[in-house]
Amino acid sequence: MRVTMIGSGYVGLVSGACFADFGHVVTCVDTDASKIDALNRGEIPIFEPGLDDLVAKNVREGRLSFTTELAGPVASADAVFIAVGTPTRRGDGHADLSYVYQAARDVVAKIDGFTVIVTKSTVPVGTGDEVERIMRETRPDADFAVVSNPEFLREGAAIGDFKRPDRIVIGTEDERARGVMEELYRPLYLNAAPLLFTQRRTSEVIKYAANAYLAMKITFINEMADLCEAVGANVQEVARGIGLDNRIGGKFLHAGPGFGGSCFPKDTLALMKTAQDLGSPLRIVETVVAVNDQRKRAMARKVIAACGGSVRGKRIAVLGLAFKPNTDDMREAPSLSIIAVLQDAGADVVAYDPESMEPAKALLSGVSFAADAYSCIEGADALVIVTEWDAFRALDLDRVKTGLRTPIVVDLRNIYRSDDMRRRGFEYSNVGNA
Ligand code: UDX
Repeated sequence: MRVTMIGSGYVGLVSGACFADFGHVVTCVDTDASKIDALNRGEIPIFEPGLDDLVAKNVREGRLSFTTELAGPVASADAVFIAVGTPTRRGDGHADLSYVYQAARDVVAKIDGFTVIVTKSTVPVGTGDEVERIMRETRPDADFAVVSNPEFLREGAAIGDFKRPDRIVIGTEDERARGVMEELYRPLYLNAAPLLFTQRRTSEVIKYAANAYLAMKITFINEMADLCEAVGANVQEVARGIGLDNRIGGKFLHAGPGFGGSCFPKDTLALMKTAQDLGSPLRIVETVVAVNDQRKRAMARKVIAACGGSVRGKRIAVLGLAFKPNTDDMREAPSLSIIAVLQDAGADVVAYDPESMEPAKALLSGVSFAADAYSCIEGADALVIVTEWDAFRALDLDRVKTGLRTPIVVDLRNIYRSDDMRRRGFEYSNVGNA
């Protein structure tokens, strides 16, 4: 099959490379010429484990290419995926769909013969209908079907998630489109990944419902962690104790500093707004959004409390800036709010992250950036773990203790064992008495 990806960002690039690896011929298009030039030089603009090798292999084998010109690749495509950004619109919290609609207009002008148009970007319910309306209005003679096929890729694990998904959701009632989608994902359903065909609107709801549910699960365990601290219980054991019930499941029950990233904060907010506008408010989701917002600042207050009630004039070492490990993504990272509150309280913050230092430098002012974890810790009055990189789990804790001016460690990801840390002489605190 011939596939064209409109948008070579995170989702477009990962999906394009994986479809090419399945044997399809894929062209990734982007309006950003410098991004396309970089990709054509073999440079991958994002950090995603395994993506550079996957792209290089498929380019070499002639199944994957990059261009700024959409006309040719769209005309020859069996399926065109719209994988452009849907950022939060300034002012009202809704998803900004202008890039999606512009892509729809550009694409329909160039299709040739029956073409499946797939919305891969996360879009509010009803966007598929609007994309179809815009396309029919732009070009009444065009032969196409608009399908919803949401992505469930986790950053840092995106290739594995694409190739071994729990399910593939496809929203269409068009038989020809169904045939094309089945063919595209054939390598996967040979591996027994269920293909769930449903109505387009239902598919759009599934995407938001899945993300909101996961965000709710995290928020639930985070509040449970606070309760555990208040009553002297252990949140990790609570998570295990409830997670062993198959109806609950043990995943996404790690207490921490609140969820961040490019999806959960944006998608929960957009879902909340859509539901409010339609007069069917989702009160649980509204609470999740509010609790998670407050949590990041609460984590900074936890650090201040661990430092005896004040961080004024103190040097605080922050290890981990990205919103989670194995990515350089700083979008909605808890580190941003935590560091801002610490600075407001008079702290001198020094930070280190294995991958996100470049984007972090552009976002954080007044922070000193260390060359590695040990130099970050050196002479600090307290160490705060904000992202659970494996490298931080493997630190030589004796060296950490000698490096710190006072042995205060606030572990917001519960990566160390509290009994071990206390035995080593640290003043150790974590999330939920883990
Ligand atoms: C998420 C969804 O998992 C994915 O299906 C969707 O398509 C896009 O959004 P991603 O944003 O890459 O993926 O990250 P994810 O691994 O889900 O983590 C999101 C946030 O939740 C991170 O800040 C992470 O630290 C936090 N988290 C996750 C927890 O605090 N506890 C957990 O148990 C799990």
